[in-house]
Amino acid sequence: MPIQVILDCDPGTDDALAVLLALASPELNVLAVTVAGGNVGLTHTLRNARALVSLTGRDTPVYAGADRPLLGAFVSETGVHGQDGIGGVVLPEGAPPAPGLAADVIRRILRDSVEPVTLIGIGPATNLALALTTEPALAERVAQIVLMSGAWAEGNVTPAAEFNAWSDPEALAVLLACGRPVVFATLELTAQALVTQAVIAGWRGLGAGRCLQAACDIQATVPASRRLGGAGAPLHDPCAVAWLIQPELFTARPCSARVDLGPGPGRGRTLIDRWNRTGDKLNAVVLETLDAPGFFDLIGGRLALLP
Ligand code: RIB
Ligand code: CA
Repeated sequence: MPIQVILDCDPGTDDALAVLLALASPELNVLAVTVAGGNVGLTHTLRNARALVSLTGRDTPVYAGADRPLLGAFVSETGVHGQDGIGGVVLPEGAPPAPGLAADVIRRILRDSVEPVTLIGIGPATNLALALTTEPALAERVAQIVLMSGAWAEGNVTPAAEFNAWSDPEALAVLLACGRPVVFATLELTAQALVTQAVIAGWRGLGAGRCLQAACDIQATVPASRRLGGAGAPLHDPCAVAWLIQPELFTARPCSARVDLGPGPGRGRTLIDRWNRTGDKLNAVVLETLDAPGFFDLIGGRLALLP
């Protein structure tokens, strides 16, 4: 039986490949794609999500969500994703967004689902947090929460913090306190998924479908990471989706995690205790290693199945 999931995102170049991977994989039943402002503003992220879902030919509903964090101001990341969020790659206009706000739809799906639902968060966690704070009892309907978020060492938006956690740390704190297991694909994991031009060329050779070619076009616009010595572009968000599809590509460790909510330079830092030094409750799992060749094969093979 496929895993019932809600995919919350902020497309976003890496979100784009994550959305396509999720929709291409029979292991997952994507009940809804919900969208937040993040990499770029909600106007762009929503348009990108609609276009990506329609490109697959699927009728998965796409819902608009929060255009700002729970507290503080919205800040984008156009340096990596371009002004439009997908590197300037032009996709056909997608189907209109489904009626309803993301947080309300997440609650409705959780309330009505016959089986527990997995929440995948690959952008600021605002929509997921709004759903679970307005109806906390629905946490019992959540199978697990899988996030691309955080870092146990250096951040990528500040020295201390990873972008998704930093964009809405209060939202991440809500998820960590909701009582359901949170699985982290952190920057240390995604640094093992360095996409090079050779990887993209390998994907291009797998088929001529519009989705695979669009994914390659989008990924080709992403600059190599100077934080990682220019060796390639870390493919963040598909790691969270791949964990659910092929967990054997990963190793994982139970841990405790909290997030810095202070106003200072450490704001948004995730304090991930892998060695139980704090004695805190083990409220999370951190993905530690990735079989990168297997990961890239999974992405190419699945996207080649799409139209
Ligand atoms: O830090 C990487 C994360 O922030 C990814 O989800 C990327 O899409 C951005 O949202
Ligand atoms: Ca993202």
